[in-house]
Amino acid sequence: MFQLTNKTAVVTGGGSGIGKAVCLLFAQRGASVKVVDVNKEAANTTVAEINASGGMAEAIAINVVNQEEVVSAYQAIEKIDILVNSAGISHIGTLETTDAADFDRVYSVNVKGVYNSMYAAIPLMKKNGGGVILNLASIASSVGIPDRFAYSMSKGAVLAMTLSVAKDYVKHNIRCNCISPARVHTPFVDGFLAKNYPGKEAEMFAKLSQTQPIGRMAKPEEIAALILYLCSDEAAFITGCDYPIDGGFIKLNN
Ligand SMILES: NC(=O)c1ccc[n+]([C@@H]2O[C@H](COP(=O)([O-])OP(=O)(O)OC[C@H]3O[C@@H](n4cnc5c(N)ncnc54)[C@H](O)[C@@H]3O)[C@@H](O)[C@H]2O)c1
Repeated sequence: MFQLTNKTAVVTGGGSGIGKAVCLLFAQRGASVKVVDVNKEAANTTVAEINASGGMAEAIAINVVNQEEVVSAYQAIEKIDILVNSAGISHIGTLETTDAADFDRVYSVNVKGVYNSMYAAIPLMKKNGGGVILNLASIASSVGIPDRFAYSMSKGAVLAMTLSVAKDYVKHNIRCNCISPARVHTPFVDGFLAKNYPGKEAEMFAKLSQTQPIGRMAKPEEIAALILYLCSDEAAFITGCDYPIDGGFIKLNN
């Protein structure tokens, strides 16, 4: 089960965190993995790790914000069976502490980037007779999280785009789902703690860990396992869904 032999998977944000864990797991399962990341060095490192263990991978160093770059990079790929959109950025702030530049920056990567990536992949999937798309939404897509105004805006849009694409392309044999993780311990979390809570990183890390009723953050590998299932042929009956993977955050925090 859960084999990806003869499948080509494009993973944005494949240089770090969840995206990297997905690349490593997909390659282990036999996929040819295209590691898309704006950070060329990070993408190359993921590729080197995959190649060292006998897997197939290629780095594609592009910025998902730039539609032309994304379209031309994806067109150069012979076929795309699976697309995972994991590239994303965060911003801490309420509406009043989010200025227009912060709002635009989060929008351009988390919303426009996902749109660009699906925009480039869908015609190729249609031509190929189908495909699977998995987007990284968040608990912030459907629950009020303190100090995450712009981020919540962006992840709400990811959920809505997922449903829209699932509806429009079901007739083309394209499945589209998203997952909504609570906190996952990746460089994304370490980065925002260092930036926003300097000197208080350990305290904030413990606090954020406890917001999951299960008492810790997820590991990237745990998120990758759900993504593997949803992108595999075993999940052929699943489209238009948002899966929480949240240590009980949404349903048990009351
Ligand atoms: N870590 C969490 O707690 C958490 C929780 C819920 C959802 N998510 C979502 O999961 C996704 C991955 O998060 P992560 O924790 O693995 O993050 P991460 O910061 O570890 O990795 C994100 C990767 O995306 C790349 N990237 C950023 N902007 C890009 C751009 N414009 N073009 C191409 N690549 C770009 C970065 O270089 C990085 O390698 C994000 O969409 C995030 O919002 C994360």
